[in-house]
Amino acid sequence: MENIGQIKTLISEADLKKRVEELAKQIYEDYNKRSITFICILKGSVFFTVDLAKHIPSNVKLEFIRVSSYHGTESTGKIELKIDLKDDIEGEDVLIIEDIVDTGRTLSYLKEYLKTKNPKSLKICTLLDKKERRVCEIEPEYVGFNIPDKFVLGYGLDVDEEYRNLPYIGYIDNV
Ligand code: IMP
Ligand code: MG
Repeated sequence: MENIGQIKTLISEADLKKRVEELAKQIYEDYNKRSITFICILKGSVFFTVDLAKHIPSNVKLEFIRVSSYHGTESTGKIELKIDLKDDIEGEDVLIIEDIVDTGRTLSYLKEYLKTKNPKSLKICTLLDKKERRVCEIEPEYVGFNIPDKFVLGYGLDVDEEYRNLPYIGYIDNV
């Protein structure tokens, strides 16, 4: 990407690690050591899902789903299911793992969709929450960090598919 400008750090690698470990501990205790099915929302949640799962000592099953709603930095408001679940989640304790909740459109769509698969329970864990941008009523049960209305990138989050690999959460002033 040309002219991306200077990337500033919003959340450092060390702070991410510390918070992910805290969330893992809380989830492990809340689920009372039961098996949990993580549904990783591709592609943005990959880094968070893997790091979170590694810090939960009980069994974590991994499922993947892909939806798209974004073009560049603005939401189109239209959600499309691009990759569906491959396995049954009926009767399982399901935790949706999201990178960021912005308008909430993606998660309201996904929650309704996943409910039709009859999980035993269905909750949401998001690394980042941009509450002031909310359009749909979505309250994640687990939130890593509440962040201001800035467009962020890194640790899985992209700007037009780029910079997902940064080990920290950054932001750019000019996008
Ligand atoms: P929502 O449907 O508006 O809540 O948007 C959720 C999705 O938009 C996330 O899963 C991200 O893929 C993307 N998104 C929202 N805000 C950002 C951002 O600041 N940086 C990168 N992606 C974002
Ligand atoms: Mg994205």
